[in-house]
Amino acid sequence: MSFEGRVAVVTGGAAGIGRSIVTKLAAEGASVVIADVDEAGAAALVDAIEPSRGKARFVRTDILVESDIAAMIEHAVQSFGRLDLLFNNAGVPRTIAPDSEIAEMTGEKWRRTLDAHLTSAMFGCHYAIPAMIRAGGGAIVNTSSASALAATLDLSAYSAAKAGLHALTREVAVTYGRDNIRCNAVVPGAVMTERGRATLPPDIIRLFAEETPLPRLASPDNIADVALFLASDAAAMVTGQALLADGGMMAKLPYWLPKMRETRGERFDETTYRANR
Ligand SMILES: NC(=O)c1ccc[n+]([C@@H]2O[C@H](COP(=O)([O-])OP(=O)(O)OC[C@H]3O[C@@H](n4cnc5c(N)ncnc54)[C@H](O)[C@@H]3O)[C@@H](O)[C@H]2O)c1
Repeated sequence: MSFEGRVAVVTGGAAGIGRSIVTKLAAEGASVVIADVDEAGAAALVDAIEPSRGKARFVRTDILVESDIAAMIEHAVQSFGRLDLLFNNAGVPRTIAPDSEIAEMTGEKWRRTLDAHLTSAMFGCHYAIPAMIRAGGGAIVNTSSASALAATLDLSAYSAAKAGLHALTREVAVTYGRDNIRCNAVVPGAVMTERGRATLPPDIIRLFAEETPLPRLASPDNIADVALFLASDAAAMVTGQALLADGGMMAKLPYWLPKMRETRGERFDETTYRANR
């Protein structure tokens, strides 16, 4: 998957999945704009990339601010002469984009979370598409979440935003296919980022790993690999898709299956079943 000569913008590129995307793109020869609020993290990443063959620039971008998104695209075109790839990836923490169950929802919480996880991607596409058309085409990859596909109780605005991201992905794909622009979403399950490692209790990390058919959490690199595939020429005929990269988490029928067997007088314990297999 060579990205030689391509110009990319990655939102939330200073940490987590975004940093892996930036690092891998630069290693494959792309020129990358890191669009993030974390100036120190982005500066360290630019320093790490520049001695190698990749090129990287940082533009301070708050994806909650439309004019910042316009400026980030402009910065890429000014710095590197064109725009080929956009990764709408930034994840805004719950302290800034709070969420809750619907009965507890406020207009402010709902709007802020949709702004962070859906409207930002729409404006990313809005400002990137004309530049991509001038470049003869391009590819957009949106980072979604398994929360787009199943309810997550107190993350109702986040779930709705990520589900909306799938609709946005299809709209862009269908509208701009004739301009040679592809648009897809990568859909992670649970990812062991540095933030996740610092904030998730070990019991929860173990539970996620045990419950996932591939019995581990994804690394940021695992998700970046799928994002890069979707952006690459290897996916030249893939557009409008949301590709799960969740270790099979969403492929498994849920908790009630063992209970259903019990109502038929059968005993089913997954741990014993696995041990005796
Ligand atoms: N980590 C997971 O388990 C997981 C699972 C499913 C989906 N996702 C999605 O993956 C994407 C990346 O998440 P992550 O886990 O790598 O997050 P992360 O917290 O590790 O990194 C997020 C990056 O976004 C930046 N950021 C935060 N607010 C911003 C803002 N207002 N403007 C610009 N940049 C901002 C941060 O500074 C950071 O560099 C998100 O869209 C998230 O919803 C993550």
